[in-house]
Amino acid sequence: MKYFSIAIDGPAGAGKSTIAKIIAKKLSFIYVDTGAMYRAMALYFIRNNIMADDKDKIEEACNLVDISIEYMDGEQQIILNGENVTGLIRTEEVGNMASACSVYSKVRLKLVELQRSLAEKSNVVMDGRDIGTYVLPNANLKIYLTASSKERAKRRYLELINKGISADIDNIEKDIIDRDNRDMNREFAPLKQAEDAIVIDSSNMTIDEVADSIIKYYEKSVK
Ligand code: DC
Repeated sequence: MKYFSIAIDGPAGAGKSTIAKIIAKKLSFIYVDTGAMYRAMALYFIRNNIMADDKDKIEEACNLVDISIEYMDGEQQIILNGENVTGLIRTEEVGNMASACSVYSKVRLKLVELQRSLAEKSNVVMDGRDIGTYVLPNANLKIYLTASSKERAKRRYLELINKGISADIDNIEKDIIDRDNRDMNREFAPLKQAEDAIVIDSSNMTIDEVADSIIKYYEKSVK
C-alpha cells in the first residue's frame, strides 16, 4: 500500500471516533468515519419508510443512494444524494437502523468500495467494525478498541445528560449489548478482532491515554 492506514475497530461507544479524530489530527492523516456512511444509508431508509427486514426494498434502494464524503475545516461531512446530512445521523434511531441494515452485503459492498478508494488516495485513520478484517486487511496498524458495556453505557449516559437529554442507564446498556450482538453475529464481515490487531481496553483509561498509546504503536511501526 502506498499510503499509511490505521484501522480502529470495536463495539459501539468504545470511543473509536473521538480517539481516531485526535490521532488523525496529530499525524495529519484523514479521518474516515465509516459508521457515518452506514448511518447516512439508514437515514435514507428511514425517510423512505423502508423497514430493516425488507431485504428487497433495501437492495433496490441501494441503487438510488449516493454517499460521499467531504472535509470542512478538517471535519468529515457526509453527503447523501447531494445533501449534507452530517447533523442528522447521530440519533439512537439512526444508529439502530444502521446496525440493522448493515447486515446486508449489498449495503456493505457499496460502502466498502468508497472506504477502500479513500485509503488508496491518502494516509487514513479509519474507524468502524470490519476495517482491519475486511475493508483494509493490509492496514499498517490495526487497533481493536473496546470497553465494558457498563462503562460504555455510563459514557453515553453522561453525554446525553450533559446535553440536557434525560436517559436511563440500564436501557442504554441493553441497547449497547443488543447492537454488539447484532454487529458481531451478522454473516458478512461481522465485528471481530483481527488476528494482528492490538487490543486496547479503554474501560479504565482516559481519552488522552488511549490516543497516546496508539501514537506510540504508530511510531514503533514506522521506525
Ligand atoms: O460506529 P457507529 O455507531 O456510527 O456505527 C453505526 C452502525 O453501523 C453500527 O452499529 C454497525 C454499522 N457499521 C458497520 O457495520 N461497519 C462499519 N465499518 C461501521 C459501522
